[in-house]
Amino acid sequence: MTSHPGVTLEPARCADVHAIALMSRDLIEHGLNWRWTPARVAMHQRRADSIVLAARLGRALAGFAIMQFGEERAHLSLLAVHAGARRRGIGRRLVAWLEASAGTAGIQAISLEVRARNGEALAFYRALGYEEIAVSPRYYDGRVAAVRMLHILHLAQPPVPVWQPPRIDA
Ligand SMILES: CC(C)(COP(=O)(O)OP(=O)(O)OC[C@H]1O[C@@H](n2cnc3c(N)ncnc32)[C@H](O)[C@@H]1OP(=O)(O)O)[C@@H](O)C(=O)NCCC(=O)NCCS
Repeated sequence: MTSHPGVTLEPARCADVHAIALMSRDLIEHGLNWRWTPARVAMHQRRADSIVLAARLGRALAGFAIMQFGEERAHLSLLAVHAGARRRGIGRRLVAWLEASAGTAGIQAISLEVRARNGEALAFYRALGYEEIAVSPRYYDGRVAAVRMLHILHLAQPPVPVWQPPRIDA
């Protein structure tokens, strides 16, 4: 559990699942088919290679994020903060928590997609060091464009030199 003044971050509980799915529907997927239903959020909460992270103000759910861990890359699928709780650093803290756990797992990069017309989210991710790497014109529901973004967590380590026995010239 991570605490900052007034904000607590912790893996989401079963009791959070429904509220998280509704936040996804209303704050992220509005105008699209609702894909992050309670059943899907619950499935990610159970999976060992996913994290559903909750941010609380007091006891109330103020924000959440869902990320999947791969071998070398993690994918940030969802992130939202309630409108009344924005610009207090909660989104930044959620991402910092996820990046720290990804880094601990040896993951080198985090990828994500965001609607191409979501200027606020694009500004948010740019502020956190994410770079735009591609545009997918019909990514959402086959009709809404997405920007793909990437953030490199570690530079590749230089190869460690291997000891070689000295050459003996005959
Ligand atoms: C994107 C979102 C998660 C940001 O959450 P937040 O808690 O308000 O973000 P933070 O307060 O941590 O902001 C960190 C920095 O990002 C940038 N930023 C955040 N919101 C911004 C906005 N609306 N416009 C411009 N820059 C913004 C700023 O640089 C900010 O730092 P500052 O407040 O010191 O200037 C939130 O706006 C949100 O839930 N939007 C709706 C859902 C969504 O679009 N999710 C992303 C796609 S899955």
